[in-house]
Amino acid sequence: MTAPPPEPTVRTVDLHKTYSSPRGDVPAVQGLDLAVAPGEFFGLLGPNGAGKSTTIGMLTTLVVPTSGRAEVCGFDVAAHPVEVKRRIGVASQNNTLDNDLTGAENLEFRGRYFGLNAKDARRRADELLDMFGMGDRRDGKPFELSGGQARRLMICRALMHRPEVLFLDEPTAGLDPQTRVNLWEVLRDLQQQGQTILLTTHYMEEAEALCDRVAVVDHGKLLASGTVADLKAEAGADTVITVGYDGPVPEGVAALRERAGVERVEVTDGQVRVFARAPEGVLGELVAVGSAAGVGVTDASQLRPSLETVFLTLTGREYRE
Ligand SMILES: Nc1ncnc2c1ncn2[C@@H]1O[C@H](COP(=O)(O)OP(=O)(O)OP(=O)(O)O)[C@@H](O)[C@H]1O
Ligand SMILES: [Mg+2]
Repeated sequence: MTAPPPEPTVRTVDLHKTYSSPRGDVPAVQGLDLAVAPGEFFGLLGPNGAGKSTTIGMLTTLVVPTSGRAEVCGFDVAAHPVEVKRRIGVASQNNTLDNDLTGAENLEFRGRYFGLNAKDARRRADELLDMFGMGDRRDGKPFELSGGQARRLMICRALMHRPEVLFLDEPTAGLDPQTRVNLWEVLRDLQQQGQTILLTTHYMEEAEALCDRVAVVDHGKLLASGTVADLKAEAGADTVITVGYDGPVPEGVAALRERAGVERVEVTDGQVRVFARAPEGVLGELVAVGSAAGVGVTDASQLRPSLETVFLTLTGREYRE
């Protein structure tokens, strides 16, 4: 007999959040279904305003769902917020460190709040500061930290009570590439030690580098979810060739639809986009069709199958990082 699959650590069912604002209702999350397995590194990927922080807010009991369900470690977030809070660590998108306390004190204070004695809190804080390369910052104040250091300190603080699940809302937003890659390494180590992690990001590259599975969201809705490989396969694993012309798109581009290995040709004003399984020669043909019609090419790009082309294929829109 095979064991039944483990209960998800995080689950949402038809989750909705509509904010009321003076300008009217804002449907931030519109029917989200997610499941994150124990030990999984899960990414919520979407552009600005997609509803990522709102989703994290609901899962961490800070935002009240309008309808639907959200459960963390088997507890409904609305019915059992205290049980949920005990089991989660959160590093929010904005800096919430206490500037009156040192780095170590920020952590120890959190540890004490969760019931660690002074000695254990200190030991745990030192262990985390070391793990995140922040040992030399233990006695400094948060306002002296760089953006990347502050992020790391917030993640340390979120881990003080050994939460079952760690929520990271855009942990690397605004960091330089090297700092970002360093943080990725620490996060990978954490997962290897068994930590379940749900991260939001608007960087496709980050989702691809870290996450076992990814949910792509936009306008509060799930566009697709699965492993990055699944998503690429689902969207057709197409290469996307885009060409802009300095005049009307030549009629001749329609002929590309008949070409072997071309899945789809989309024409918008001044631009043609070809989704191709076999992209070889497509770009050259688009240029040739242009010159035959007396129009020049102003820009051209060829994107290999990636989360970016998945997004393009699913929405017809370019991903706005
Ligand atoms: N407290 C609020 N009141 C009204 N509208 C809100 C509130 N918080 C968020 N919104 C709106 O809800 C939508 C989703 O916002 P959310 O912050 O969840 O997106 P996000 O994916 O985290 O974006 P970002 O990548 O910019 O952090 C946006 O249209 C936003 O303007
Ligand atoms: Mg956000």
